[in-house]
Amino acid sequence: MKEEIEILISEDELNKKIEDLANQISESFKDKDLTLICVLKGGIMFMVDIAKKLKQKNIQFEFMDVSSYCGTTESTGNLTIHKDLECSLENKHAILIEDIVDSGRTLSYLKKYLESKNPASLKVCTLLDKPSRRIVKIEADYVGFTIPDKFVIGYGLDYEQRYRNLPYIGVLTLK
Ligand code: IMP
Ligand code: MG
Repeated sequence: MKEEIEILISEDELNKKIEDLANQISESFKDKDLTLICVLKGGIMFMVDIAKKLKQKNIQFEFMDVSSYCGTTESTGNLTIHKDLECSLENKHAILIEDIVDSGRTLSYLKKYLESKNPASLKVCTLLDKPSRRIVKIEADYVGFTIPDKFVIGYGLDYEQRYRNLPYIGVLTLK
């Protein structure tokens, strides 16, 4: 099968949007310390680039690796944590950095889990949003781009663990 990639968001557009999101976050939190929580592996490029543009000097990095599955169980029973936080979030201002919100399941479970750690505040910043695919009613506080229902890769996002290194977001089609 042949894999074709069509550029959806260029490197230049990504850079401009990231600068814009970083300015919004810097403005909202002023001189407060921040903890950025990257959802691995997709959020890695976005977190690194946004962190470099924030005006705050005191920023901590945390990483989580999770997978979610559908089910009827309440609360965070549907979230499998492969890698957990290393530091306490108690009384800290935390921002969850996601690559994409699709069905909304991962974000919904993760938010509940992180809120149970008693942060001073918890916001969600996602690079991409596919609202047409939403199953759980949830929105991010900061959204880079709202995109159509297409499978995208690059800039952290993968197809079978490949294409994460591309500097742009592309639509992948299999022919
Ligand atoms: P959700 O729980 O359905 O919102 O999906 C979350 C996860 O599915 C994301 O964090 C991505 O890792 C993955 N995902 C959803 N859509 C795409 C896509 O278009 N390309 C690559 N990964 C995706
Ligand atoms: Mg993800």
